[in-house]
Amino acid sequence: MAAPRGEFTSRFGFLMAASGSAVGLGNIWGFPTNTASNGGAAFLFTYLLLAFALAYPALMAELIIGRHARANAVTALKSISPGRFSQLAAVGVGFVGILTVSFILSFYAIVSGWMIAFFFDPLARLIGMDSAASWLTTDAELRNSIFVVLFMVLTVSIISAGVKDGIEKWASRLMPSLIVILILLIGYVFTLPGAMDGLRAYLIPDFSRVADPALLVNAMGQAFFSLSLGVGTMLIYGSYINKQENLPVIGSLVALLDVGIAVLAGLLILPAMYVALGNGVQIYDASGGLIAGPGLIVSVLPALFNTMGAVGLFVALAFFSLMTIASLTSSISMLEVPVAYSVENLGMERRKSAVVMGSIITVISLLVVFNFDPWFDRVVSYTTEISQPLLGFAFCIFVAWIWHRNEVLQEIRQGSPDAESGLFWKIWPFYIKFICPVAILVVYFQ
Ligand code: TRP
Repeated sequence: MAAPRGEFTSRFGFLMAASGSAVGLGNIWGFPTNTASNGGAAFLFTYLLLAFALAYPALMAELIIGRHARANAVTALKSISPGRFSQLAAVGVGFVGILTVSFILSFYAIVSGWMIAFFFDPLARLIGMDSAASWLTTDAELRNSIFVVLFMVLTVSIISAGVKDGIEKWASRLMPSLIVILILLIGYVFTLPGAMDGLRAYLIPDFSRVADPALLVNAMGQAFFSLSLGVGTMLIYGSYINKQENLPVIGSLVALLDVGIAVLAGLLILPAMYVALGNGVQIYDASGGLIAGPGLIVSVLPALFNTMGAVGLFVALAFFSLMTIASLTSSISMLEVPVAYSVENLGMERRKSAVVMGSIITVISLLVVFNFDPWFDRVVSYTTEISQPLLGFAFCIFVAWIWHRNEVLQEIRQGSPDAESGLFWKIWPFYIKFICPVAILVVYFQ
Protein backbone atom coordinates (compact mmCIF):
# COMPACT_ATOMS: atom_id res chain seq x y z
CA MET A 1 0.00 0.00 0.00
CA ALA A 2 2.70 2.42 -0.98
CA ALA A 3 0.52 4.87 -2.89
CA PRO A 4 -0.94 7.60 -0.66
CA ARG A 5 -4.64 7.08 0.01
CA GLY A 6 -7.24 9.60 -1.01
CA GLU A 7 -9.32 11.45 1.55
CA PHE A 8 -12.45 13.58 1.48
CA THR A 9 -11.41 17.16 2.06
CA SER A 10 -14.53 18.34 3.87
CA ARG A 11 -17.57 17.12 5.74
CA PHE A 12 -19.75 18.50 2.96
CA GLY A 13 -17.78 16.52 0.39
CA PHE A 14 -18.20 13.29 2.30
CA LEU A 15 -21.89 13.94 2.88
CA MET A 16 -22.50 14.56 -0.81
CA ALA A 17 -20.50 11.48 -1.81
CA ALA A 18 -22.12 9.14 0.71
CA SER A 19 -25.63 10.45 0.24
CA GLY A 20 -24.95 10.38 -3.50
CA SER A 21 -24.20 6.69 -3.16
CA ALA A 22 -27.30 6.12 -1.07
CA VAL A 23 -29.66 8.21 -3.18
CA GLY A 24 -30.20 6.42 -6.45
CA LEU A 25 -32.76 4.62 -8.53
CA GLY A 26 -33.71 2.85 -5.30
CA ASN A 27 -35.01 6.10 -3.80
CA ILE A 28 -36.62 7.77 -6.75
CA TRP A 29 -38.03 4.70 -8.40
CA GLY A 30 -38.17 1.88 -5.86
CA PHE A 31 -39.31 3.66 -2.75
CA PRO A 32 -42.36 5.59 -4.01
CA THR A 33 -43.86 2.63 -5.83
CA ASN A 34 -43.12 0.24 -2.98
CA THR A 35 -44.95 2.67 -0.75
CA ALA A 36 -47.96 2.97 -3.02
CA SER A 37 -48.33 -0.77 -3.48
CA ASN A 38 -47.76 -1.64 0.19
CA GLY A 39 -50.36 0.34 2.06
CA GLY A 40 -49.18 3.94 1.60
CA ALA A 41 -48.03 5.59 4.80
CA ALA A 42 -48.12 2.21 6.58
CA PHE A 43 -45.11 1.26 4.47
CA LEU A 44 -43.55 4.68 4.90
CA PHE A 45 -43.82 4.32 8.65
CA THR A 46 -42.35 0.79 8.69
CA TYR A 47 -39.58 1.94 6.36
CA LEU A 48 -38.62 4.87 8.55
CA LEU A 49 -38.54 2.61 11.58
CA LEU A 50 -36.37 -0.02 9.87
CA ALA A 51 -34.10 2.55 8.28
CA PHE A 52 -33.21 4.10 11.63
CA ALA A 53 -33.42 0.98 13.78
CA LEU A 54 -31.61 -1.45 11.47
CA ALA A 55 -30.04 0.13 8.45
CA TYR A 56 -28.45 3.07 10.28
CA PRO A 57 -26.65 0.80 12.80
CA ALA A 58 -25.41 -1.35 9.91
CA LEU A 59 -24.24 1.77 8.06
CA MET A 60 -22.31 2.82 11.18
CA ALA A 61 -20.65 -0.60 11.35
CA GLU A 62 -19.26 -0.10 7.84
CA LEU A 63 -18.17 3.49 8.40
CA ILE A 64 -16.41 2.63 11.66
CA ILE A 65 -14.55 -0.40 10.27
CA GLY A 66 -13.58 1.56 7.17
CA ARG A 67 -12.23 4.59 8.96
CA HIS A 68 -10.39 2.46 11.48
CA ALA A 69 -8.62 0.31 8.91
CA ARG A 70 -8.22 2.99 6.23
CA ALA A 71 -8.41 0.23 3.64
CA ASN A 72 -10.73 -1.71 1.34
CA ALA A 73 -13.13 -4.30 2.78
CA VAL A 74 -10.84 -7.33 2.36
CA THR A 75 -7.93 -5.76 4.22
CA ALA A 76 -10.17 -3.92 6.68
CA LEU A 77 -12.12 -6.98 7.81
CA LYS A 78 -8.90 -8.96 8.05
CA SER A 79 -7.29 -6.31 10.21
CA ILE A 80 -10.04 -6.47 12.82
CA SER A 81 -10.01 -10.28 12.96
CA PRO A 82 -7.75 -11.81 15.60
CA GLY A 83 -7.88 -15.50 14.70
CA ARG A 84 -6.91 -17.47 11.60
CA PHE A 85 -10.41 -18.67 10.98
CA SER A 86 -11.93 -15.21 11.31
CA GLN A 87 -9.27 -13.85 8.94
CA LEU A 88 -10.20 -16.44 6.38
CA ALA A 89 -13.86 -15.51 6.79
CA ALA A 90 -12.89 -11.84 6.46
CA VAL A 91 -11.24 -12.42 3.11
CA GLY A 92 -14.25 -14.46 1.97
CA VAL A 93 -16.76 -11.79 2.97
CA GLY A 94 -14.65 -9.05 1.40
CA PHE A 95 -14.44 -10.88 -1.91
CA VAL A 96 -18.11 -11.83 -2.01
CA GLY A 97 -18.82 -8.14 -1.40
CA ILE A 98 -16.61 -7.11 -4.35
CA LEU A 99 -18.32 -9.66 -6.61
CA THR A 100 -21.78 -8.71 -5.43
CA VAL A 101 -21.31 -4.99 -5.96
CA SER A 102 -19.82 -5.62 -9.41
CA PHE A 103 -22.91 -7.59 -10.41
CA ILE A 104 -25.17 -4.94 -8.89
CA LEU A 105 -23.37 -2.38 -11.05
CA SER A 106 -23.83 -4.60 -14.11
CA PHE A 107 -27.63 -4.39 -13.88
CA TYR A 108 -27.64 -0.85 -12.53
CA ALA A 109 -25.75 0.29 -15.62
CA ILE A 110 -28.45 -1.13 -17.89
CA VAL A 111 -31.23 0.77 -16.15
CA SER A 112 -29.08 3.90 -15.92
CA GLY A 113 -28.45 3.59 -19.65
CA TRP A 114 -32.20 3.77 -20.23
CA MET A 115 -32.26 6.97 -18.18
CA ILE A 116 -29.63 8.57 -20.42
CA ALA A 117 -31.48 7.45 -23.55
CA PHE A 118 -34.69 9.00 -22.24
CA PHE A 119 -32.77 12.14 -21.36
CA PHE A 120 -31.71 12.52 -25.00
CA ASP A 121 -35.24 11.89 -26.28
CA PRO A 122 -36.68 15.36 -25.51
CA LEU A 123 -33.47 16.96 -26.83
CA ALA A 124 -33.87 15.09 -30.11
CA ARG A 125 -37.47 16.20 -30.37
CA LEU A 126 -36.60 19.80 -29.57
CA ILE A 127 -34.40 19.91 -32.64
CA GLY A 128 -36.94 18.06 -34.75
CA MET A 129 -35.16 14.71 -34.98
CA ASP A 130 -38.26 12.63 -34.41
CA SER A 131 -36.96 9.36 -35.78
CA ALA A 132 -33.90 9.56 -33.54
CA ALA A 133 -36.26 10.25 -30.64
CA SER A 134 -38.28 7.15 -31.31
CA TRP A 135 -35.10 5.07 -31.66
CA LEU A 136 -33.99 6.38 -28.26
CA THR A 137 -37.19 5.33 -26.54
CA THR A 138 -37.64 1.94 -28.21
CA ASP A 139 -36.27 -0.97 -26.23
CA ALA A 140 -33.59 -2.70 -28.33
CA GLU A 141 -30.34 -4.50 -27.68
CA LEU A 142 -28.31 -2.08 -29.77
CA ARG A 143 -29.66 0.98 -27.99
CA ASN A 144 -29.22 -0.65 -24.58
CA SER A 145 -25.63 -1.64 -25.35
CA ILE A 146 -24.66 1.82 -26.54
CA PHE A 147 -26.03 3.48 -23.43
CA VAL A 148 -24.56 0.90 -21.06
CA VAL A 149 -21.16 1.69 -22.55
CA LEU A 150 -21.76 5.44 -22.35
CA PHE A 151 -22.84 5.22 -18.73
CA MET A 152 -19.85 3.07 -17.81
CA VAL A 153 -17.48 5.48 -19.56
CA LEU A 154 -18.84 8.31 -17.39
CA THR A 155 -18.50 6.18 -14.25
CA VAL A 156 -14.94 5.12 -15.10
CA SER A 157 -13.83 8.69 -15.86
CA ILE A 158 -14.99 9.97 -12.49
CA ILE A 159 -13.40 7.07 -10.61
CA SER A 160 -10.11 7.42 -12.52
CA ALA A 161 -9.77 10.96 -11.17
CA GLY A 162 -9.62 9.70 -7.59
CA VAL A 163 -11.40 10.43 -4.32
CA LYS A 164 -10.98 14.19 -4.14
CA ASP A 165 -10.91 15.17 -7.82
CA GLY A 166 -13.37 12.52 -8.95
CA ILE A 167 -15.86 11.30 -6.36
CA GLU A 168 -15.94 14.32 -4.07
CA LYS A 169 -15.85 16.92 -6.81
CA TRP A 170 -18.63 15.38 -8.87
CA ALA A 171 -20.85 14.41 -5.96
CA SER A 172 -20.59 17.97 -4.63
CA ARG A 173 -21.78 19.32 -7.96
CA LEU A 174 -24.38 16.73 -8.80
CA MET A 175 -26.17 16.17 -5.49
CA PRO A 176 -27.22 19.80 -4.91
CA SER A 177 -28.48 19.94 -8.52
CA LEU A 178 -30.45 16.77 -7.90
CA ILE A 179 -32.19 18.30 -4.89
CA VAL A 180 -33.02 21.49 -6.77
CA ILE A 181 -34.43 19.62 -9.77
CA LEU A 182 -36.46 17.35 -7.51
CA ILE A 183 -38.03 20.26 -5.64
CA LEU A 184 -38.81 22.17 -8.85
CA LEU A 185 -40.47 19.11 -10.34
CA ILE A 186 -42.57 18.53 -7.20
CA GLY A 187 -43.65 22.16 -7.24
CA TYR A 188 -44.74 21.88 -10.84
CA VAL A 189 -46.56 18.56 -10.54
CA PHE A 190 -48.49 19.82 -7.50
CA THR A 191 -50.13 22.47 -9.67
CA LEU A 192 -51.63 19.84 -11.98
CA PRO A 193 -55.10 18.29 -11.61
CA GLY A 194 -55.08 14.86 -9.98
CA ALA A 195 -51.89 15.44 -7.98
CA MET A 196 -53.78 15.47 -4.69
CA ASP A 197 -55.20 11.99 -5.36
CA GLY A 198 -51.64 10.77 -5.69
CA LEU A 199 -50.72 12.46 -2.46
CA ARG A 200 -53.58 10.63 -0.78
CA ALA A 201 -52.49 7.25 -2.18
CA TYR A 202 -49.00 8.00 -0.91
CA LEU A 203 -49.76 9.31 2.53
CA ILE A 204 -52.99 7.77 3.80
CA PRO A 205 -52.01 4.67 5.75
CA ASP A 206 -53.69 1.32 5.35
CA PHE A 207 -52.68 -0.08 8.73
CA SER A 208 -54.15 -3.48 8.00
CA ARG A 209 -50.98 -3.98 5.94
CA VAL A 210 -48.44 -3.32 8.71
CA ALA A 211 -48.47 -6.91 9.95
CA ASP A 212 -48.02 -8.26 6.41
CA PRO A 213 -44.67 -10.13 6.27
CA ALA A 214 -44.25 -9.14 2.62
CA LEU A 215 -44.34 -5.50 3.68
CA LEU A 216 -41.59 -6.04 6.23
CA VAL A 217 -39.41 -7.90 3.77
CA ASN A 218 -39.89 -5.19 1.17
CA ALA A 219 -39.19 -2.38 3.61
CA MET A 220 -36.03 -4.01 4.88
CA GLY A 221 -34.73 -4.87 1.42
CA GLN A 222 -35.46 -1.32 0.35
CA ALA A 223 -33.64 0.13 3.37
CA PHE A 224 -30.52 -2.01 2.82
CA PHE A 225 -30.34 -1.38 -0.90
CA SER A 226 -30.97 2.30 -0.42
CA LEU A 227 -28.18 2.78 2.10
CA SER A 228 -25.81 0.79 -0.17
CA LEU A 229 -25.10 -1.69 2.63
CA GLY A 230 -23.28 -4.99 2.89
CA VAL A 231 -20.92 -4.83 -0.06
CA GLY A 232 -18.18 -2.56 1.24
CA THR A 233 -19.31 0.64 -0.50
CA MET A 234 -19.91 2.55 2.70
CA LEU A 235 -16.85 0.91 4.23
CA ILE A 236 -14.59 2.28 1.52
CA TYR A 237 -16.17 5.74 1.72
CA GLY A 238 -15.73 5.53 5.50
CA SER A 239 -12.05 4.81 4.95
CA TYR A 240 -11.66 8.21 3.27
CA ILE A 241 -13.14 10.19 6.19
CA ASN A 242 -10.60 12.04 8.28
CA LYS A 243 -10.07 11.20 11.91
CA GLN A 244 -11.48 14.47 13.20
CA GLU A 245 -14.99 13.72 12.01
CA ASN A 246 -17.70 12.68 14.41
CA LEU A 247 -18.85 9.39 12.89
CA PRO A 248 -22.23 8.91 14.60
CA VAL A 249 -23.24 12.41 13.55
CA ILE A 250 -22.20 12.19 9.90
CA GLY A 251 -23.63 8.67 9.65
CA SER A 252 -27.00 9.92 10.82
CA LEU A 253 -26.85 12.84 8.40
CA VAL A 254 -26.31 10.39 5.53
CA ALA A 255 -29.27 8.28 6.68
CA LEU A 256 -31.44 11.38 7.05
CA LEU A 257 -30.54 12.68 3.61
CA ASP A 258 -31.22 9.29 2.06
CA VAL A 259 -34.59 8.84 3.74
CA GLY A 260 -35.48 12.50 3.19
CA ILE A 261 -34.85 12.31 -0.54
CA ALA A 262 -36.79 9.04 -0.81
CA VAL A 263 -39.77 10.68 0.93
CA LEU A 264 -39.46 13.72 -1.35
CA ALA A 265 -39.34 11.47 -4.41
CA GLY A 266 -42.65 9.99 -3.29
CA LEU A 267 -44.11 13.49 -3.40
CA LEU A 268 -43.13 13.60 -7.06
CA ILE A 269 -43.81 10.11 -8.38
CA LEU A 270 -47.21 9.34 -6.85
CA PRO A 271 -48.83 12.67 -7.70
CA ALA A 272 -47.34 12.40 -11.21
CA MET A 273 -48.89 8.96 -11.65
CA TYR A 274 -52.35 10.24 -10.73
CA VAL A 275 -51.94 13.25 -13.00
CA ALA A 276 -51.13 10.73 -15.72
CA LEU A 277 -54.27 8.77 -14.85
CA GLY A 278 -56.33 11.93 -15.30
CA ASN A 279 -54.68 12.41 -18.70
CA GLY A 280 -55.76 8.98 -19.84
CA VAL A 281 -52.51 7.10 -19.19
CA GLN A 282 -52.79 3.54 -17.89
CA ILE A 283 -51.25 3.39 -14.40
CA TYR A 284 -52.58 0.08 -13.11
CA ASP A 285 -51.28 -3.30 -14.23
CA ALA A 286 -53.37 -6.38 -15.05
CA SER A 287 -53.64 -7.41 -11.40
CA GLY A 288 -54.96 -4.01 -10.35
CA GLY A 289 -51.77 -2.79 -8.62
CA LEU A 290 -49.90 0.36 -9.59
CA ILE A 291 -47.39 -0.19 -12.38
CA ALA A 292 -44.12 -0.26 -10.49
CA GLY A 293 -41.40 -2.00 -12.51
CA PRO A 294 -39.54 -0.62 -15.50
CA GLY A 295 -42.93 0.24 -16.99
CA LEU A 296 -43.33 3.09 -14.54
CA ILE A 297 -40.27 5.01 -15.62
CA VAL A 298 -40.02 4.07 -19.27
CA SER A 299 -43.70 4.09 -20.18
CA VAL A 300 -46.06 5.68 -17.62
CA LEU A 301 -44.06 8.84 -16.97
CA PRO A 302 -42.97 9.40 -20.60
CA ALA A 303 -46.63 8.98 -21.60
CA LEU A 304 -47.52 11.63 -19.04
CA PHE A 305 -44.86 14.02 -20.38
CA ASN A 306 -46.24 13.46 -23.88
CA THR A 307 -49.68 14.67 -22.78
CA MET A 308 -48.18 17.95 -21.54
CA GLY A 309 -47.32 19.45 -24.92
CA ALA A 310 -44.19 21.60 -25.22
CA VAL A 311 -43.79 21.96 -21.44
CA GLY A 312 -43.59 18.19 -21.33
CA LEU A 313 -40.27 18.26 -23.19
CA PHE A 314 -38.69 20.35 -20.45
CA VAL A 315 -40.28 18.33 -17.69
CA ALA A 316 -38.95 15.14 -19.30
CA LEU A 317 -35.51 16.68 -19.61
CA ALA A 318 -35.52 17.67 -15.94
CA PHE A 319 -36.85 14.32 -14.80
CA PHE A 320 -34.36 12.19 -16.73
CA SER A 321 -31.45 14.39 -15.77
CA LEU A 322 -32.52 13.81 -12.18
CA MET A 323 -32.50 10.05 -12.77
CA THR A 324 -29.14 10.14 -14.54
CA ILE A 325 -27.52 12.15 -11.74
CA ALA A 326 -28.95 9.83 -9.11
CA SER A 327 -27.58 6.81 -11.01
CA LEU A 328 -24.14 8.24 -11.57
CA THR A 329 -23.43 9.26 -7.97
CA SER A 330 -24.42 5.68 -7.01
CA SER A 331 -22.52 3.86 -9.73
CA ILE A 332 -19.24 5.58 -8.87
CA SER A 333 -19.59 4.31 -5.30
CA MET A 334 -20.02 0.79 -6.65
CA LEU A 335 -17.02 0.88 -9.00
CA GLU A 336 -14.85 2.31 -6.21
CA VAL A 337 -15.12 -1.03 -4.34
CA PRO A 338 -13.21 -3.25 -6.81
CA VAL A 339 -10.95 -0.36 -7.82
CA ALA A 340 -9.85 0.38 -4.25
CA TYR A 341 -9.10 -3.30 -3.78
CA SER A 342 -6.97 -3.62 -6.88
CA VAL A 343 -5.12 -0.38 -6.18
CA GLU A 344 -4.34 -1.25 -2.57
CA ASN A 345 -3.84 -5.00 -2.72
CA LEU A 346 -2.73 -5.70 -6.28
CA GLY A 347 -0.66 -2.57 -6.66
CA MET A 348 -2.49 -1.44 -9.79
CA GLU A 349 -2.41 2.18 -10.80
CA ARG A 350 -5.83 3.85 -10.19
CA ARG A 351 -6.53 4.92 -13.75
CA LYS A 352 -5.66 1.53 -15.13
CA SER A 353 -7.63 -0.24 -12.45
CA ALA A 354 -10.73 1.88 -13.14
CA VAL A 355 -10.51 1.02 -16.84
CA VAL A 356 -9.90 -2.69 -16.26
CA MET A 357 -12.61 -3.14 -13.62
CA GLY A 358 -15.00 -0.92 -15.54
CA SER A 359 -14.45 -2.93 -18.71
CA ILE A 360 -15.03 -6.26 -16.99
CA ILE A 361 -18.29 -4.98 -15.52
CA THR A 362 -19.33 -3.51 -18.88
CA VAL A 363 -18.82 -6.89 -20.51
CA ILE A 364 -20.98 -8.59 -17.87
CA SER A 365 -23.56 -5.89 -18.36
CA LEU A 366 -23.60 -6.43 -22.13
CA LEU A 367 -23.99 -10.18 -21.63
CA VAL A 368 -27.06 -9.41 -19.53
CA VAL A 369 -28.36 -7.03 -22.21
CA PHE A 370 -28.16 -9.80 -24.81
CA ASN A 371 -29.71 -12.41 -22.51
CA PHE A 372 -32.10 -10.07 -20.79
CA ASP A 373 -34.67 -12.77 -20.08
CA PRO A 374 -34.05 -14.38 -17.66
CA TRP A 375 -30.67 -12.97 -16.65
CA PHE A 376 -31.67 -9.49 -15.66
CA ASP A 377 -34.15 -10.62 -13.01
CA ARG A 378 -31.79 -13.32 -11.81
CA VAL A 379 -28.86 -10.99 -11.29
CA VAL A 380 -31.12 -8.52 -9.46
CA SER A 381 -32.51 -11.12 -7.12
CA TYR A 382 -29.29 -13.04 -6.41
CA THR A 383 -27.43 -9.87 -5.55
CA THR A 384 -30.03 -7.81 -3.71
CA GLU A 385 -32.22 -10.48 -2.15
CA ILE A 386 -29.68 -13.14 -1.26
CA SER A 387 -26.15 -11.84 -1.21
CA GLN A 388 -26.68 -8.35 0.20
CA PRO A 389 -28.64 -9.31 3.35
CA LEU A 390 -26.22 -12.15 4.13
CA LEU A 391 -23.27 -9.81 3.76
CA GLY A 392 -25.03 -7.25 5.95
CA PHE A 393 -25.39 -9.98 8.54
CA ALA A 394 -21.68 -10.82 8.26
CA PHE A 395 -20.67 -7.17 8.78
CA CYS A 396 -22.69 -7.05 12.01
CA ILE A 397 -21.00 -10.23 13.23
CA PHE A 398 -17.55 -8.86 12.45
CA VAL A 399 -18.02 -5.55 14.19
CA ALA A 400 -19.91 -6.86 17.24
CA TRP A 401 -18.62 -10.36 17.83
CA ILE A 402 -15.15 -10.51 16.32
CA TRP A 403 -13.71 -7.05 16.74
CA HIS A 404 -12.67 -5.86 20.22
CA ARG A 405 -15.27 -3.62 21.76
CA ASN A 406 -12.57 -1.32 23.10
CA GLU A 407 -11.08 -0.75 19.71
CA VAL A 408 -14.51 0.06 18.33
CA LEU A 409 -14.99 2.65 21.04
CA GLN A 410 -11.55 4.10 20.45
CA GLU A 411 -12.29 4.57 16.80
CA ILE A 412 -15.57 6.35 17.53
CA ARG A 413 -13.83 8.53 20.12
CA GLN A 414 -11.64 10.03 17.44
CA GLY A 415 -13.68 13.03 16.44
CA SER A 416 -16.15 12.43 19.24
CA PRO A 417 -14.16 12.34 22.52
CA ASP A 418 -17.24 12.00 24.75
CA ALA A 419 -18.67 9.16 22.74
CA GLU A 420 -18.62 6.74 25.66
CA SER A 421 -21.22 8.69 27.61
CA GLY A 422 -23.31 9.56 24.55
CA LEU A 423 -26.59 8.07 23.42
CA PHE A 424 -25.00 6.31 20.45
CA TRP A 425 -22.71 4.19 22.57
CA LYS A 426 -25.58 3.31 24.92
CA ILE A 427 -27.71 1.85 22.17
CA TRP A 428 -25.69 0.94 19.13
CA PRO A 429 -23.42 -1.85 20.52
CA PHE A 430 -26.43 -3.79 21.74
CA TYR A 431 -28.28 -3.23 18.50
CA ILE A 432 -25.48 -4.33 16.28
CA LYS A 433 -24.74 -7.36 18.43
CA PHE A 434 -28.22 -8.77 18.87
CA ILE A 435 -31.04 -6.92 17.16
CA CYS A 436 -29.51 -6.38 13.70
CA PRO A 437 -28.25 -9.92 13.03
CA VAL A 438 -31.42 -11.55 14.33
CA ALA A 439 -33.68 -9.17 12.44
CA ILE A 440 -31.73 -9.64 9.21
CA LEU A 441 -31.98 -13.42 9.51
CA VAL A 442 -35.68 -13.36 10.39
CA VAL A 443 -36.52 -11.15 7.46
CA TYR A 444 -34.19 -13.16 5.21
CA PHE A 445 -35.94 -16.43 5.96
CA GLN A 446 -39.31 -14.86 5.36
N1 TRP B 1 -28.22 2.98 -2.87
C1 TRP B 1 -28.32 3.12 -4.28
C2 TRP B 1 -29.79 3.29 -4.67
O1 TRP B 1 -30.63 3.47 -3.85
C3 TRP B 1 -27.70 1.98 -5.02
C4 TRP B 1 -26.37 1.56 -4.54
C5 TRP B 1 -25.20 2.25 -4.57
C6 TRP B 1 -26.05 0.32 -3.98
N2 TRP B 1 -24.18 1.51 -4.06
C7 TRP B 1 -24.68 0.32 -3.69
C8 TRP B 1 -26.85 -0.75 -3.70
C9 TRP B 1 -24.11 -0.78 -3.10
C10 TRP B 1 -26.26 -1.86 -3.12
C11 TRP B 1 -24.92 -1.87 -2.81
O2 TRP B 1 -30.12 3.24 -5.81
